[in-house]
Formats: sequence, C-alpha cells, structure tokens
Amino acid sequence: MSVKIAPSILSADFARLGEEVRAIDAAGADYIHVDVMDGHFVPNLTIGPAVVKALRSHTQKPLDVHLMIDPADPYLKDFADAGADIITVHAEVGNHLDRSLQMIRSFGAKAGVSLNPATPAENLAFVLDNVDLILVMTVNPGFGGQHFIESQLDKIETLRKMIGDAPIELEVDGGVNPETAKRCIAAGADVLVAGSAVFGSGDYAQNISALRS
Ligand code: DX5
Ligand code: ZN
Repeated sequence: MSVKIAPSILSADFARLGEEVRAIDAAGADYIHVDVMDGHFVPNLTIGPAVVKALRSHTQKPLDVHLMIDPADPYLKDFADAGADIITVHAEVGNHLDRSLQMIRSFGAKAGVSLNPATPAENLAFVLDNVDLILVMTVNPGFGGQHFIESQLDKIETLRKMIGDAPIELEVDGGVNPETAKRCIAAGADVLVAGSAVFGSGDYAQNISALRS
C-alpha cells in the first residue's frame, strides 16, 4: 500500500483556511493534519476546537489533530465533538498516557500518541493495545520549516518492529521533503506529515505526489 500524505495546515494561509483545506483535499491529501499548540508545551500558539469545527464541513478526509498541549485530557472531548477523526496526544504530557488514549477512543476518535525527538520508542511498549497511530516527531515541535533530525530514523525502525502486525499507523512529522520522505518510508513510516513541502511553493498536487514517489 502506498504511503499516506497528511499536509499540515500550519503552513497554509490562515486567512483562507477553508479554501486551503479544499485545495489540499483536491490535490490528493489523505489526511488533513491540524497542529494545536498552547504556548506552554511548545513555544508557539495556534488554534483550538472551534477552528477544527469550522473546517469540518470543508472536507470529508480524516482530520488528523496533533495536540501539542499540556494538559490535553480536559480538551479531548471538545476536539472529538468538533469532528476530529484522529486525536494525537504527546507521551510526554501528563502522568497517565494510557488513560488519555482510552478517553480518546471512548469519544469515538482514533487514538494517536506522539514522541518528541528525545523520547524513546520503548515508552510505548505497554500502551500499544490502546493506540491507532504513532507519530514520530522528526523536529522539536512548535514550528514548521525546521530541519529533519536524522537520529529519528532508528526510532522509526524500532517502532515498525514493535508494531509488527498490529493495526497501528506509523506517522512522521517535521522536516519531511521528497528526500527525507524516502528515508522515512524505507525505515517503515506509512503516513508522512508535511507543511512547508506542500504549501511552500508550486503546485499542491505536484508537491504531494513528489512526497509519495
Ligand atoms: C511542528 C508540527 C508540524 C509542522 C511540520 O511542531 O507538528 O506538523 O507543521 O512542518 P514542516 O513540514 O514544515 O516541518
Ligand atoms: Zn504536527
């Protein structure tokens, strides 16, 4: 099966967000990646559930909501009710990751967990039954347009082995361009997030297909 592409709307024109989402949908995006930041867990602020709700009517594609917020639990239901299909929390947030993942599923969304570059793959060994997607950060979260951190390729390989036959998607986020995409796919990734490589310059459809090939 070919790799899925999840353009990150962090690099879109925020003044025309509905239009941008329709454009990446038409250009072949598999997921719409939504970066939620709180100015506390990461040094940047973005959007909340109201924006997810407003975007819901602009696409049928899954809304892949990446929560870079601490705490996350008080907001999980709001994002699910807003129409998020996948809700990803960070493993570094809170003391009860297993509970957060179970909460996400109880609200009817798929449960994702993300690892910062310094967090080992092994931290997920005992939550895999409650996970639908693992998101490996290949930059320190907070901003688009950063450089890919090479050391994360080993982590992607480790997680691919840990996942085995389980129905868990392995997603990579940060510094993904046509060159780093190849290496992520070779290491075992099956979903690629890309902000600047999709929205940066040129045609969205061409940019998305360049990441797949
Ligand atoms: C970073 C975000 C990413 C970001 C990726 O904290 O989680 O989704 O938008 O942007 P690029 O692809 O430009 O690195
Ligand atoms: Zn993200």
